[in-house]
Formats: sequence, C-alpha cells, structure tokens
Amino acid sequence: MCGIIAYTGIGPALPILIRGLRRLEYRGYDSAGVALLDNGLLTRIRAVGKIDVLSEKIKDQELLGTTGIAHTRWATHGGVTEENAHPHTALGGKLMIVHNGIIENYRELKESLLSDVQSLPPEEPVDFKSQTDTEVLAHLIAKHYQGDLRRAVETALSHVRGTYGLVVMHADHPDILVAARMGSPLVIGMDSTGHYIASDATPILAYTNKVMFLDDGEVAEVTSTSVKTYNLHDEYVEKHLEHIDWDEKQAERQGFSHFMLKEIFDQPTVFQDAIRGRYNIAEGTAQLGGINLTDNQMREINRVIFIACGTASHAAMIGKYAFERLAGIPAEVEVASEFRYRDPVIDTHTLVFAISQSGETADTIAAVREAKRRGAVVRGIVNAVGSTIARETDGGTYIHAGPELAVASTKAYTNMVAVLLLYALQFGRLRRLSLATGTRVVDALREVAEKMKQTLQLSEEIKKIAQKYSGYRDMMFLGRGINFPVALEGSLKLKETSYIHSEAYPGGEMKHGALALLSPDFPVFGIMTKNQLYEKMRSNIEEVRARGVNVILLATEGDSSAQELADDVIYVPETMELLEPLINTIPLQLFAYHMAVILGRDVDRPRNLAKSVTVE
Ligand code: M6R
Repeated sequence: MCGIIAYTGIGPALPILIRGLRRLEYRGYDSAGVALLDNGLLTRIRAVGKIDVLSEKIKDQELLGTTGIAHTRWATHGGVTEENAHPHTALGGKLMIVHNGIIENYRELKESLLSDVQSLPPEEPVDFKSQTDTEVLAHLIAKHYQGDLRRAVETALSHVRGTYGLVVMHADHPDILVAARMGSPLVIGMDSTGHYIASDATPILAYTNKVMFLDDGEVAEVTSTSVKTYNLHDEYVEKHLEHIDWDEKQAERQGFSHFMLKEIFDQPTVFQDAIRGRYNIAEGTAQLGGINLTDNQMREINRVIFIACGTASHAAMIGKYAFERLAGIPAEVEVASEFRYRDPVIDTHTLVFAISQSGETADTIAAVREAKRRGAVVRGIVNAVGSTIARETDGGTYIHAGPELAVASTKAYTNMVAVLLLYALQFGRLRRLSLATGTRVVDALREVAEKMKQTLQLSEEIKKIAQKYSGYRDMMFLGRGINFPVALEGSLKLKETSYIHSEAYPGGEMKHGALALLSPDFPVFGIMTKNQLYEKMRSNIEEVRARGVNVILLATEGDSSAQELADDVIYVPETMELLEPLINTIPLQLFAYHMAVILGRDVDRPRNLAKSVTVE
C-alpha cells in the first residue's frame, strides 16, 4: 500500500527520493509527492498517477536540498486527488509530513483543532486543504510545536488512535527528520553520505544493507550523522543495526518484461535458497532451528493452525496436507481476517504458524497477537527480513525468496510450500515417520529445482494456450487432494492479473452445484497428475467433458491418455505426490501471466490491489 522514502545527508536528495518512489511502485499507489528542504525553504510537488507524471512536473524546477521526504499514496481517506496526495503541510507550509496507516480518531481531532482556530496566531492557520487523516496529524503536530520537532511529534501522537509510520520535517530544522512507528513499518538505513528512512527496505538497498527497524511506539530523530530513538514517553531507546542480505539487483527486472515473469523464473534458484542447509540426508529429516523448540516440545504439539491471507493461505493448505500425512498432527488453515474475530480454541500445545510474504499483512499481524494472547506457540514463516510478523513471533523461518515485487505472489508461495514441507518432515521424523520415507522426501526435494527448470521451458507453449482461451470471461480450475490448493492458487493468479472471473473447486465437489455453471463458454483447467487420486480426478474430468466443456489438462509426462480428455494438455515432470504443488503451480502461474499480457493488463500492479495489505 502507501510507501515512504526520506533522506537526509550530504548528497542531493531528489534523485534518491525519485528512485526510491520507483522502487516503491510495486506496493500499489494512485498518487505521489515529494518535499525538499533547501535554504530554509520547503518545496512540495505532488501528482495523481504514475511517478512519471510526478517526474515530468519536477523536471523544469531546480529542486536542490539534501533533506527530503516522499510518498506513494494508495487512497483510504479521501479520493484520488492531488490535494489528498502526500506530503501534507501545516504551519503555512513550514511543516511537512508523509504518513502510512490510518488515524482512527481523526474526525474528533479535526473538530478539536478547528475549535482551537480562534486562539491561534494568524501565521499558524489550521486550514484543511484535503480530506485526509494525515493532514489532521500535520496540524496536530504543529499545534504542539514549540521549537523541538521530536517532542511535538511525541506529544501529538499521545492523542492519536490508529496506525502510523510517518516522517516529519520542518523548515527551521534543515537537517532533521523525525520518524515514528505504530503498526506501519519503518526502516532506517545508513551509508557514508547520510540516512534513509523507508516503509520497507527495497528503496534503500541501492545504497546500503545496514538498517535499523523501528518498533511500535518508537520515535527516531534522524540527522545526516546520527539516529536517536525514543519511546513515546521520551525515554531513550538503544537500537542495533541489522544486515539485510537482499541486494538491489534482485529487485530489478533483469531483462524480463515484468517482475511477475522474472519472479516465476526465479523459482528454481530461490527454492534452493529455501532448502539449502535445512535438510539432513543421513537422517532423512529437516533441521529448522528457528522454531526455537526442543525436540520434546515439538513432540508435545498436538495441533497446528496456519493463519495467512491470499496466496499464503493456499501454501498453508499444502502445509496442512503435509503435516497430517508426514507427522500425523491435526492441522487447520484459517484466513487471518476470520481467525482474529473468532473465539479460537487454543492451548499451549497448539502451534500457530503465521505465513506471510511481506510480514506486514494487517490481518495476519492481528491474528498473531490474538493467538499469542490465547497462549499458543506462535511462529512465523515470512519472507521480509525484520518485518512485523518476523519480530512479533517467538521464532520461525525466513523463506529466502528475495524481494518479491509483483503484486501477484509466485516465488514466495513456492518457498512457503518448501519451508512447510520441511517443517512437516521435521515434525514427522520426531514422531512416526520412518527413516525410509523421510529419506525419500529429502531425495525428492533435492530433485525439485531441476524439474522446475524443465517446467519453465513450457512458457511459450503455455502462452499459445493462453492466447487460445483469451476470449473467455470465465474459467474453472479443478484439483483434488494436494492439488486442490494448487487449483485455488491458479484461479487466484488468473483473476488478480487478468481480471477473468475464475473459480476453483475440488473435482469431487462439482456435482454438488458448480457443475451447473459449466458450458462451452466456461472452460475448465484440470490438474490431473499421476497420484493416488488420479483415477478419481479422471472421472471428474470425464463428467465435465461429457457436457461439451473445453478442457485444459495438466498431466504427468508420458500420460498419453490425457489427450483423449482434453483440448490442450500441459505435461509436467513427475515428482512425489506431496511435492507436486512445487511443480504443478508453475504452469498455472505462467498461464495467468501470459493471459494478463495478452489482455493488456497492468501485470505487476493489477487494479485495486496492493502488494502488502497493511490496513484491515
Ligand atoms: O504478504 P502476505 O503474504 O501476507 O500477503 C497475503 C496476500 O495479500 C497475498 O498473498 C495476495 O493474495 C497476493 N496478491 C496473491 O498473489
């Protein structure tokens, strides 16, 4: 959703801010703006639309200054207008703020500020120009400003309910940025030229890997040479630098036409990053130390709950199958937005895994807090290093997918599945799983990357199939067993990138209603690879076929009989059944990708969506 980049140092700020805004584009936005401080004068420029529109507006202006703030806005309060774009100002333009999050009590704060107007000097007008909660915050800080910007921010925030990640600057403090966090992440990076503040690490990676993560309730006073952090009671807080092992190159398209395609093709490499050093061939097991539980504590776990949203919840479903099959532990998946408002029955033997690429999904964070409150053992399976879920869980595992910038998640899903399989194996070997089966799983995992590479070679073939089906408005994905979550994921990928209506069903459930939807205008994409449910799935596809429906089938290499049932067959390499999602999802990702390109969609930034959903 919204993004922040700010800089103070000895270098010119504008190029850093514009480059940073481009790096933040992936989060989803509808307007953007920058403000620079030069010779005691603050200049602000904002524009609706892409960063290119903003750059065009800036290009004829001489915007100097080595301190500045910038923002990409994804509208929540107030429409998509230039007036509502950040930065927002107060004190007649002397104070500027960029803000992510939502100030819940902004209406009452606004009323109170307006009722104060009479008592304020004329040079400090409270003049609301936008409909945003952020502008209210700007005036609230201004109200408490008495020469010390950080104290003004701290006092203002003590009146605020809601979430924020914010950066404030003031014309009278040329070298100071004040940043504060509550619920919306902020990262501070440092190099030899100065300091960077951003809503995630991606815009900072070009300059440094040395970062500091602000925690909720912390305020930082950042100058070109120092960072001082405090809590909201104005007490000094000691913070440490951390190292992020992502690099800027990973966050580039590297010759691919879209991030989504690049990230699909990243999968063999990042999958190896996810499993490297985490399995033990001799013992036929996995070794994920981050779980922070002894073997005995792991044996005492009698129930696993996965909480996640969207694609992460599909990965979680695969985790459920794996935990039940390999470890014999009852497992459930619940979307975080439901879990957080239920009365979940949880005890100290329940292990809750929070799964998230960004680690910042608001519902998943809330569900983590709820599970912890109820006494569960809560662990994270997360991609973004230092993210809120990674920090708030008492252990867990990074999935090592590297920066994922396309809104449609692909490689993060694969690596979530990889880590979940490893966990299921580890728990299984501590319980009932034999060495022989454990070894078979490890061996099969070690062959996956090569099979992924083979599957990726199908891209051009899949493009032709996508072309053939690009005129349809509806599509049904069918799978059974471990391939039902794969069908759900294929369906989600298609709808979010190409805007084609799609549904996903377990093959055996069709007769109970959804079969009525099918017609020659409603094609089916079936996953019918050779596993224990192959014959069952075959019957389901025959039922569909008998109704004159066009069928695309994903089948195992060598299964020539699949041709009899389908208009188009995509053959994938055979693997162990539990590992099939790691291979079978790839053609579905490619199908969605090519379809979106053919239909002229904004592939990496589909309409109405944001990469990381940081509001409820
Ligand atoms: O960052 P997270 O993994 O927590 O995000 C969860 C979902 O918002 C995300 O998977 C979403 O469904 C993607 N757009 C799917 O491609």
